[in-house]
Amino acid sequence: MVKSGLSERTSVSHTRLAIHLMAAFITFGFTFYVALDLIYPQKNNYDLHLKKLHRFTWLVMLMLCFQIIYGAFVAGIKAGKLYNTFPKMGDEWVAPAVSYSLSKSGAAAIFNDVSVVQFIHRYTAYIVVALFMALYVYAYNLHNARMQKLLSAEKLKAVNLLPYAVLFQFLMGVFTLIYAVPVWLGILHQLGAFILFAIIVFFITQV
Ligand code: HEM
Repeated sequence: MVKSGLSERTSVSHTRLAIHLMAAFITFGFTFYVALDLIYPQKNNYDLHLKKLHRFTWLVMLMLCFQIIYGAFVAGIKAGKLYNTFPKMGDEWVAPAVSYSLSKSGAAAIFNDVSVVQFIHRYTAYIVVALFMALYVYAYNLHNARMQKLLSAEKLKAVNLLPYAVLFQFLMGVFTLIYAVPVWLGILHQLGAFILFAIIVFFITQV
């Protein structure tokens, strides 16, 4: 999906692409964070359970950022053009090229090898989905367990969005892969990552 505007060397360094993408996400995240803090200033930080939920939300954010960085790697080295099958990589759960590249190139393969990069992005997606579901259950149970409800109507809306948003993003990723990266699916998949990021920033400011 990515190409430089130059005519001789049109490829883009995948690490620079990842830095550029993360810079955009962080700039948006920080602006959104400040705006939300002004709109909804009150916090329940004194509550021990909310503190734990807050910390867990940061863990989800870290994992999401890791996944976004690897998404940029996949796009940058065009790793979405091979193993266009799901759930397996071709006929195997782990393509033989993954272990071969790791044994041949070591740690460098984690950042540069097409098979390894795709392997990391597809399997980290399961962890991201599991973490979003866990955050949903955690926040919902915490809210329902209290006599005095802790989450306002707006915050509950964000909680309810979590499972739908992450499943949508997962599915967009799968379709992007099995159709070998048509531009519109690549864009939708990138937009999905942006929405997930925005939901988690909202969560961080609100719980
Ligand atoms: C659920 C969490 C996921 C997140 C947050 C995520 C995020 C991203 C991001 C940010 C990109 C970079 C888009 C760009 O810069 O153009 C990307 C690319 C990509 N992702 Fe995901 N992804 C997820 C799941 C998946 C899954 C489950 C698959 C497939 C099994 C997948 C396949 C791809 C492919 C093939 C690309 C490359 C698209 C291109 O070349 O433009 N993703 N992902």
